[in-house]
Amino acid sequence: MIHLGVNIDHVATVRQARRDIEPDPVAAAVMCELAGAHGITIHLRSDRRHIQDRDLHLLRKVVKTKLNLEMAATDEMVEIALEVKPDQVTLVPEKREELTTEGGLDVVSHEKQVAAAVSRLKEGGIPVSLFVEADHEQIEMSKRVGGDAVELHTGSYANAKTDAAQSGELQRLIGSGRQAVAAGLRVHAGHGLTYRNIIPIKQIPKLHEVNIGHNIVARAVLVGLDRAVREMLELLK
Ligand code: PXP
Repeated sequence: MIHLGVNIDHVATVRQARRDIEPDPVAAAVMCELAGAHGITIHLRSDRRHIQDRDLHLLRKVVKTKLNLEMAATDEMVEIALEVKPDQVTLVPEKREELTTEGGLDVVSHEKQVAAAVSRLKEGGIPVSLFVEADHEQIEMSKRVGGDAVELHTGSYANAKTDAAQSGELQRLIGSGRQAVAAGLRVHAGHGLTYRNIIPIKQIPKLHEVNIGHNIVARAVLVGLDRAVREMLELLK
């Protein structure tokens, strides 16, 4: 079964809109786990626009499945990860002004910085996934810098405007999945995945984990988090 990591950043976004104490992402994490989610994903951004350090520390204590910390490959974040010890780190690019993570991490151009971060995290016993585009060189480099997994960026697939474009993007993801498996990397996928576009994604070979945030939280606002998580799990079966 493909594992579902629910990204709860946008529960914190609603809280931060008022700089208040509710809704609490820690409560959301518990509800996701009770609904059957296989993991909880959060992105601690350098500007702390949604998830706060307090959330990370509490989630480390509360999450019983798998806590996946998305973060930039910076010294500040590596120090935090080594202290808190999430079950997995996913390295992502981060520009302060962007609304969300816009492209994959360019492991080829930032080989030294990424390799150094991966090596420190792995010395600390934390498995590392690299969020990359479905691109041959990026995947090859992800292996070379010591990554355990790649999270294939599904944004272009999600944003494709025609069936033909979507099918082309899907083929690219399938090819990259094959390449990653052959290189001995675990295969994850994420970004822009929805209840409407998730089914074809299951064709990615040996897909182990998907990380889905915005669309699950969006549905949860209307139908509740328990139902929103269960409905996504049903589609992943
Ligand atoms: N995976 C990664 C690496 C991400 O950066 C994000 C967005 O924070 C997601 C998955 C979730 O994307 P979405 O909110 O579009 O489902």
